[in-house]
Amino acid sequence: VAAPDKSYIKRYRYPELNDQIEKVIASLKINDEQLKHIMRTLEEEMNTGLSPTTHKQSSVKMFPSYVRHIPDGTEVGQVLALDLGGTNFRILSIKLRGNSKIDLTSKIFVVPQSVMIGDGRHLFRHLVECLSDFMKKEALLHTGICYPLGFTFSFPCKQESLSSARLTAWTKGFSCSGVVNEDVVKLLQDAINEKGINVKCAALVNDTVGTLMACAYREPSTAIGLILGTGTNACYIENLDNVGTWNGDYNEPKQVIINMEWGAFGDNGCLNHIRTKYDEEVDLSSINPGKQTFEKMISGMYMGEIVRLIILDLLQQELLFLGHRDTYGDYKTPLYNRGGFYTKFVSTVETDEGIKFSNTRRVLEDIGIRNPTFDDCVIVQHICRQVSTRAARLAGAGLAVLINRMKKSNITIGVDGSLYRYHPRFKRNMERCMENLVHKDLKFKWALSDDGSGKGAALVACVAEQNSSGIFV
Ligand code: GLC
Repeated sequence: VAAPDKSYIKRYRYPELNDQIEKVIASLKINDEQLKHIMRTLEEEMNTGLSPTTHKQSSVKMFPSYVRHIPDGTEVGQVLALDLGGTNFRILSIKLRGNSKIDLTSKIFVVPQSVMIGDGRHLFRHLVECLSDFMKKEALLHTGICYPLGFTFSFPCKQESLSSARLTAWTKGFSCSGVVNEDVVKLLQDAINEKGINVKCAALVNDTVGTLMACAYREPSTAIGLILGTGTNACYIENLDNVGTWNGDYNEPKQVIINMEWGAFGDNGCLNHIRTKYDEEVDLSSINPGKQTFEKMISGMYMGEIVRLIILDLLQQELLFLGHRDTYGDYKTPLYNRGGFYTKFVSTVETDEGIKFSNTRRVLEDIGIRNPTFDDCVIVQHICRQVSTRAARLAGAGLAVLINRMKKSNITIGVDGSLYRYHPRFKRNMERCMENLVHKDLKFKWALSDDGSGKGAALVACVAEQNSSGIFV
């Protein structure tokens, strides 16, 4: 077998990237004018989603959460919380002591892949088995007390009250049968009753709402809850007058937290003009094609996959890793497999500053590219930066719509999620683009939610139990 021809190894040279590479990178760029256009479209979709006559057409569902007040730290009680939204779920026991003091213990459990895509009854039985084990360890079983439970369920639900919520669709890789269109609180409560444990599910909240509540407990100016993790979504405090779909009472305060489900923004085609062929590919090979368009351009579940497809495309065009084919012209790398480039690699690659590229080299070696060239590293980092910057700018534009719409200065954005926590530049990139998009007189700050959305759900449940109207007072 002839030795591989290595003459093409240095076809392009930093800093001038090859034209074809630049073309790929350019397709990912979204300038401020385009962002402003996206903001107008998002606000239209929000209004369409809030009106009962047009709600169906909107890709942004704007579900009222039935949470009307934010906590003030005086809440007291012993509550449980269950936080389900990804491959792990967390159970918490929370003692609210008033004066913003909380004692909290929690444990993380795994949701096996087979349970994520299996029969819905198994999912709820699994949750309740783990809950029962946890309560046993915490000596909460057979105490003669029925504990209220707050359920953070991070999937789109149409709620009819705090404790009744129909799942409209699964997202983020879940697809359990027999749950869509069902009341999730009832499914959980049935499993609890079957097990015979002393728990009452008093409230279901989305993770965005849980995050807003948890942050508001410390910082009462919190008016937005944001998740940037496996999925992405936001909630905010809306005036009841703007919520045509509201069917609750109009008592003071005339406001309700809206779970936007902005991950689905664009599912009706209104974002097609910014999607690339890589976005289309990610969508087509996902478990829910045509769904969660905005989420698929932003969140952690998909970011690594977009980068993988771009790298693979360049590799197949012979623009990258030219020295790494074996004698048969093949590469032995997981880049060919779906999920073969993790989102955490994007963060690692972007932590490199300067020209040593030690992290990038490590990542590339992890995926079977030994001794990558300097150009290989430059290009891979460039791709990661473009993909994550686009994501940050889209999320920033979404937030800017909310801040401008609420027209209140000095609000706090409560935020959680692995992408926000661990990506080295995501927050900075969001902030930078928001400088040009948020009205100049509106200032805002960020608060990272420390105990996650479970704590927020517990707060809602605690107050719901103390006030039979199910509304914070
Ligand atoms: C997905 C879910 C949404 C959740 C978000 C973040 O978009 O549909 O309910 O808030 O992920 O976890």
